[in-house]
Amino acid sequence: MGNGTQKVALVTGAARGIGLATTRRFLADGWRVALLDIDGETLNRTHAALSQPDATITICCDVADPTGVAEALIRVAQEFGRLDALVNNAGIAIFKPILEVTFEDWSRVLAVNLTGPFLCVQAAAPLMRDGGGGAIVNITSISGLRASTLRTAYGTSKAGLAHLTEQQAVELASLGIRVNAVAPGPVDTAMAKAVHTPEIRAAYHDSIPLNRYGLEQELAEMIFFLCSDRSSYITGQTIAVDGGFEATGIGLPALRKDRRSD
Ligand SMILES: NC(=O)c1ccc[n+]([C@@H]2O[C@H](COP(=O)([O-])OP(=O)(O)OC[C@H]3O[C@@H](n4cnc5c(N)ncnc54)[C@H](O)[C@@H]3O)[C@@H](O)[C@H]2O)c1
Repeated sequence: MGNGTQKVALVTGAARGIGLATTRRFLADGWRVALLDIDGETLNRTHAALSQPDATITICCDVADPTGVAEALIRVAQEFGRLDALVNNAGIAIFKPILEVTFEDWSRVLAVNLTGPFLCVQAAAPLMRDGGGGAIVNITSISGLRASTLRTAYGTSKAGLAHLTEQQAVELASLGIRVNAVAPGPVDTAMAKAVHTPEIRAAYHDSIPLNRYGLEQELAEMIFFLCSDRSSYITGQTIAVDGGFEATGIGLPALRKDRRSD
């Protein structure tokens, strides 16, 4: 175990994808990290493969379970004695036409993507406050910035999380806690592989000026920045890391076609 002055981050959904890249980014800067995930098997495999297992602990937990989340934060306090950053990254995606979304789909997506960050922040804020403050980053999505087809539950959960970010930023500032959101564009993780059909992939390219998917590491850089003291005057913001998706309206495919025929 590292020494008590090393900063500590809790990353949810840390077993793979953007959460794992974020964990690696913290470790590269000398932080200690609590990796939380619902998938214990992948979490243990990931932990075994990390280059600095001494600076990490694993917690198998469902972020939508209030008791599990409360116990997770007790564990962080016991093992590390402090918490400087929380990254609410755990999330699930169910893409369906609006009339086919079941009550169970809707409820589970809202529970994990919106209630999860609410519970984690409530449980984590006292530990952060006791250590003099900290930073929280909620991972939303470009699907919460602009409505797209198939994303009724997912997009609504992420739009709700963007507003929750503002509520948390306003109320937790007096405890020395900053709260921001990062809205990723498409990143080719296991989640994207499961829900991005060839049509969706083509549609993203048509709407993204940089004309490619983002990399997990590109997301991790922004998340890490917002958790570090270098962003000490930024709170209540959603930063899109999206290759220009949010800035784009119509016309990009036509422009590309014109350029090709120059
Ligand atoms: N990949 C993309 O294109 C993309 C785009 C926009 C936003 N995001 C968001 O980024 C975040 C990370 O996504 P990713 O692409 O790395 O996905 P991923 O599916 O590869 O990883 C998500 C991790 O969260 C864990 N998880 C799921 N439900 C959980 C729960 N209830 N409790 C604890 N852990 C749970 C999973 O086991 C998994 O390890 C998500 O919030 C996602 O909505 C992803």
